[in-house]
Amino acid sequence: MCGIVGYIGTQPASGILIEGLRKLEYRGYDSAGVATISEGQLQRTRAKGKLQNLQVKLEGLEDPARVGIGHTRWATHGKPEEHNAHPHTDSKERIAVVQNGIIENYRELRAELKAKGHQFRSDTDTEVIPHLVAEYLAHPPADNQLGRQSPLLEAMRQAVNRLQGAFALAMVSADFPDELIVVRQQAPLAIGFGQGEFFCASDTPAIVPYTRAVLPMDNGEIARLTPLGAEVYAFTGHRLKKHPLTLNWNPIMVEKQGFKHFMLKEIYEQPGVVRACLEAYLDEGWSADQQKSPVTMAIAPALLADLQHIQIVACGTSWHASLVGKHLLEQLAGIPTSVHYASEFRYAPPPLMPNTLTIGVTQSGETADTLAALEMEQKRRSESPEAADQPRLLGITNRPESSLGRLLPHIIDTHAGIEIGVAATKTFSAQLMAFYVLALELAYQRQTLTPARLEEIVTAMRQLPAQMELVLESQERYIEELAHEFSETQDFIFIGRGINYPIALEGALKLKEISYIHAEGYPAGEMKHGPIALLDEKVPVVAIAAPGSVYEKVLSNAQEAKARDAQLIGVAPMNDADAEETFDSLLPVPVVDELLSPVLTVIPLQLLAYHIAARRGLDVDQPRNLAKSVTVE
Ligand code: F6R
Repeated sequence: MCGIVGYIGTQPASGILIEGLRKLEYRGYDSAGVATISEGQLQRTRAKGKLQNLQVKLEGLEDPARVGIGHTRWATHGKPEEHNAHPHTDSKERIAVVQNGIIENYRELRAELKAKGHQFRSDTDTEVIPHLVAEYLAHPPADNQLGRQSPLLEAMRQAVNRLQGAFALAMVSADFPDELIVVRQQAPLAIGFGQGEFFCASDTPAIVPYTRAVLPMDNGEIARLTPLGAEVYAFTGHRLKKHPLTLNWNPIMVEKQGFKHFMLKEIYEQPGVVRACLEAYLDEGWSADQQKSPVTMAIAPALLADLQHIQIVACGTSWHASLVGKHLLEQLAGIPTSVHYASEFRYAPPPLMPNTLTIGVTQSGETADTLAALEMEQKRRSESPEAADQPRLLGITNRPESSLGRLLPHIIDTHAGIEIGVAATKTFSAQLMAFYVLALELAYQRQTLTPARLEEIVTAMRQLPAQMELVLESQERYIEELAHEFSETQDFIFIGRGINYPIALEGALKLKEISYIHAEGYPAGEMKHGPIALLDEKVPVVAIAAPGSVYEKVLSNAQEAKARDAQLIGVAPMNDADAEETFDSLLPVPVVDELLSPVLTVIPLQLLAYHIAARRGLDVDQPRNLAKSVTVE
């Protein structure tokens, strides 16, 4: 949430900052701002709303500055007005700071600083920081550890030691024009190493167009960047030896490549992502008679041995993928599995049980609740004799270089790459693939499936990418037309059963988050226990009816909805007479093994949500009030 960028070097800073903010706009778009330093003066420009508004304000302004910071905001404290936009400054407007996160003790600090004569001009928590830095610059405390290297660095070090909360910061000062100070504490920040120039950003897409040498900062670190080098320190003042890693990224990955929106591009990338997962994690020449696992994913044996229980923590769409994961781990590998909202788990975890694997699932790798839940679990398991074994934690993410990757030693990289559209699509499919592979590996180890059944599933998995392509090719035009009918609809219901119940939840979430239409997902069998009262001719029902154990049941539940005048849309098998008779509109998918069906059934729902939102003229990639990385609690 919120995007931070910073630059110091030899090139004009302003363009680099704006371009960086453009790459980070998915993190928040309530307001944007930049501050640069040139000829001993701090120049600050801010605008309410999208980055475009800031660009309009900056047009025609000559700015020779070679150092600066920028911010795109997802409002936490204070309405999304210009006076609350970052960067924030001290009273004399010599210091500018941008922040991503929340300063929990800002009220006390604000009162303390006000009493000392500091003038505040915003409602934000962030504004205390430049004032606090100004205070420490004016009155350096006795333990002035880094003051000789840089008074500005030391003042920020003193300030961050007073801050409570989760935050990433970047700061420049007109009195120290050759320095850019950056800080990380529980919110992401990476430093990019160029030739005689340094970058900082909340996420790497803002850096990769310039350099792939990137140092993701760790919690409790503060760094001083000058054109001559980067020095990293702990908050205690100790100098740390850190080395950048090289990202194998292509900047093209973060461009739209001819698609109208990132979301549509990412929907279309799904067959390729699934193919990449299969290539990475399934043995190509495997057959059941070889008496070995079809899975080539290297998971430490100690993580999986003698498991009695698996618990999964996640949020949002990743939580839905985890529900599919639970179904697979229980039905294929026979391991009792619970799925928790990370935001609930961290404050009310279930009692400890031995031989438990905890899995954290997150596309961004930065979700504050998921990281905190995993950290808490790691701690309580290391400290408790009841846990009886070493904590076993596994992360599933497409961003192995993220905070999750640094928190957990064991990660399944889902190979989806970065996702820019705020609504998760390809990362969801990739998370599903990670669960299929994990469940198959466990099923093999525990011999819960016959070799013939294992081979059946593996063979069917290999056909998924082509079947996904077929769904995309055959349906997009029809779904676009269908979307016209529903662009004014106010409520939608999605129903599914078994492994497709989470897909009903996901279909509803996709629709509500980008179209702002109220939508709910239910297990189809639960409709008559209450939600059916909502139905009439104005409330369409989308039923996910995949052939298998609950197919007939879902069709009956759909009929019950039809009897209440609901218009029925079915995600159902191709060329199926029952489906054709039941549904008013049919979104057909190829017939697959029921356990694999979510990979196909989710695609028409993503397309439906996309086209309804696009038809309503909404900003699909940046829906209101949302952000791609939820780095605050
Ligand atoms: C919905 C969506 C969100 C995220 C949720 C968790 O399309 O993207 O619901 O799934 O914020 O994010 P991650 O997976 O980054 O932990």
